[in-house]
Amino acid sequence: MPVKIMHKVTLMFGVFCLTLLSAIASAEKSSGVGQMPAMGWNSWNTFDCDVDETTIREMADAMVESGMKEAGYEYINIDDCWHGERDTNGNIQVSKEHFPSGMKALADYVHSKGLKLGIYSDAGDTTCAGRPGSRGHEYQDAKTYADWGIDYLKYDWCDTENLNPEGAYTTMRDALHAAERPILFSICEWGDNQPWEWATDIGHSWRISGDIYPCWDCGYGWGSWSSWGVLKILDMRKDLNLRQYAGPGRWNDMDMMEVGNGMTEAEDRSHFSLWAMLNSPLIAGNDLRTMSKQAREILTNQDIIALNQDPAGVQAMRYIDAGDLNVFVKPLSNGEWAFLFLNRGDDILTVNHDWQFNVVKDDLTGRSIDFNKATFTYRGLWKNLKGNTQKPLQLSIPAHDVVVLRLKPAA
Ligand code: GLA
Repeated sequence: MPVKIMHKVTLMFGVFCLTLLSAIASAEKSSGVGQMPAMGWNSWNTFDCDVDETTIREMADAMVESGMKEAGYEYINIDDCWHGERDTNGNIQVSKEHFPSGMKALADYVHSKGLKLGIYSDAGDTTCAGRPGSRGHEYQDAKTYADWGIDYLKYDWCDTENLNPEGAYTTMRDALHAAERPILFSICEWGDNQPWEWATDIGHSWRISGDIYPCWDCGYGWGSWSSWGVLKILDMRKDLNLRQYAGPGRWNDMDMMEVGNGMTEAEDRSHFSLWAMLNSPLIAGNDLRTMSKQAREILTNQDIIALNQDPAGVQAMRYIDAGDLNVFVKPLSNGEWAFLFLNRGDDILTVNHDWQFNVVKDDLTGRSIDFNKATFTYRGLWKNLKGNTQKPLQLSIPAHDVVVLRLKPAA
């Protein structure tokens, strides 16, 4: 073989080997977790920085006693402010004052209840509340979390000057991979850098908005930034068709829930139903120890949870957008569908929905229903409501409330 060609062949072989090696060594996000939207509880919405091990243990107890565990909730997540300083070797420490028994003991306790423990860090130098961030310590922190027995990492985006988001989140994903413990990776970058476009192979979910606030349609200003009510988050990325990015193991995160944190019963019901239909992680943010019967019943509605956890993993589409009336439609497994009728407005809304004039076509899944050709029976998932799609549906929906129906092909 002429020398020139030989060189070329050697070079090509070298490139092939390198590609192969990097493919073998390349990190992935954990595949055994986060396949369905995560269900759990997080400390931030109620406790802000005021977290300690007693509260977290009590919350794990309450998750079991309230029936939430049985309903499918599994993660107990500590948000910002659990941190102490780094030691002389750069290892992150817990706050000794608030977590005197250490994080490993807390993880053991949470695991003993059949639950999992989540933690929070930040891609920048400091977290949003000014605690040590993971920048420059990613592999060390991931290893520490794995040693502690952590199962979930929420990774925030404060103090990240000159960091590239895709790169920073990839680094932490790879660090978690190297730590060899399945840890659900929850990206919290608020949607500022379109994470849905790059994060599907990096995290199990990505926030699509700034922080939530327990109100229906408000914004709450904090100076340089704002928190958002339920409708504001619902509408924030309306034109981006975010459902195309979601699926098993990759979810749009509408933020931790505010059910039980001061909105009306109707608003809590709508908030929960919408988050479920849109396949958002269902992370409660209220005090589970003292919640009302009403909040508990909303959070543990098995029929609504089943929509969120449906194995087909298809996020609902906004099918009708007509002033106060929004209708969301979600294709489910086994040829079933969910319909959510939302009254955004402040007065009772009368709806006359003639199924036969409302053919449904979902371009994402290729599924459709023509109610002239196929009859479905339906049942209400909040109120007892039964019928079939041959007759128009008459609804009277109270202000800020929803009617959610599950449709099944008639036998
Ligand atoms: C950011 C996040 C919140 C919460 C706080 C903690 O604002 O978006 O969800 O984690 O930081 O400081």
